[in-house]
Amino acid sequence: MAQTKPQDNESGERQASTSTHVQAEKRSRESRFLRACRRESVDRTPIWLMRQAGRYQSEFREIRARTSFLDLCKNAELACEVTVMAVEMLKVDAAIIFADILLPLEPLGVGLEYAKGEGPIIHRPLSSLQDVQSLRPCHAEEHLGYVLNAIKLTRRTLRQDVPLIGFAGAPFTLASYMIEGGSSKNFDKTKQFMRNETPAWKLLMERVAELTGEYLKAQIEAGAEAVQLFDSWVGCLSPIDYRQYVQPYTKKVIDTVRGAAPLIHFGTGTSGLLPNMVQAGGDVVGVDWRISLDRAWQTIGFDRGIQGNLDTTILLSDRATIAAEAKRVLQEAGGRNGHIFNLGHGVLPPTDPDNVRFLVEFVHSQENAASERVVPT
Ligand code: CP3
Repeated sequence: MAQTKPQDNESGERQASTSTHVQAEKRSRESRFLRACRRESVDRTPIWLMRQAGRYQSEFREIRARTSFLDLCKNAELACEVTVMAVEMLKVDAAIIFADILLPLEPLGVGLEYAKGEGPIIHRPLSSLQDVQSLRPCHAEEHLGYVLNAIKLTRRTLRQDVPLIGFAGAPFTLASYMIEGGSSKNFDKTKQFMRNETPAWKLLMERVAELTGEYLKAQIEAGAEAVQLFDSWVGCLSPIDYRQYVQPYTKKVIDTVRGAAPLIHFGTGTSGLLPNMVQAGGDVVGVDWRISLDRAWQTIGFDRGIQGNLDTTILLSDRATIAAEAKRVLQEAGGRNGHIFNLGHGVLPPTDPDNVRFLVEFVHSQENAASERVVPT
């Protein structure tokens, strides 16, 4: 089990003193992960994994056996414990705060539930302008203070040289859950709403964008040194729909945090949307395996960083395959500054933790010498 006792200051108080805070900030600024976010040179490619804290870990499953998912997110000590545990177990280059992108939906009043074995359910999905107008006012400090407290505690507890990533769902992905009532395959209700109830869609996206910008800023103020914006399902849209119905709102969120901390703009199945996602913004763009990393980076432009993009199912395979595929991803990155190694999506629950550890060790064993690599043309 991870040690989650905060690094107490001399008086034994949990509150970190200003000087230790400044020191921590200085050290984690030097980290490989933050250097890569800024496209500075690194000795080894930094790696962290989406869902690095999750059900593939027996320790996590033990905690979940006695705590509901929402209670786990709302308990700063427990959220901190699972966040730190993943870093200690895997020796990754960054921590991501344990929370969920759907948490803001609870205070908005749509009836969020994480049902056992079914994933998230929204009990009162939105279908009209009136539904959107009836959403409750929601403010990060007031309604999501528990995430901010978990960030503060985790920043004090985590090894000082490991940066902490905050995150939020992007407006499209959050809106899709609110309209579909849960996870979806084709997003038909969302697309229908977007086109047939356009004023309601715009109002919804405005509200979510404003809340998300505020929430990410509050996370940075609480101690997150980078943030990731998850637009996990935006790949279902055509470029024209993205430009019209999504881009301005995502841009608004990203503009809100610009200059405060590096932002990773992530989506899956986005190969046709990358130029538009880049226009919306982000210091680093996160991509999945449906596009090769070198092609994705060429499309994004080398003036941005890139995060990704090992197929999550490679971790269900043997070590030789994991090593070969990880090497291929590194070769596609070509030793350029600004690559953050990750999966293309979250670690799957049936994954063997030893394989995850092996992947991290393997990436760390590869020297980041551009000259040794095949640079794609
Ligand atoms: O380690 C980390 O990555 C931090 C924690 C984290 C979780 N969810 C914990 C979680 C993060 C960054 C997320 C993001 C998230 N949540 C996304 C975007 C990334 C992605 O996966 O596309 C989305 C779409 C959600 C919404 C969500 N939360 C779904 C669809 C589900 C159910 C499906 C599933 O994997 O169980 C969740 C629940 C959830 N969020 C779990 C975890 C560890 C599993 C819940 C459990 O413990 O039973």
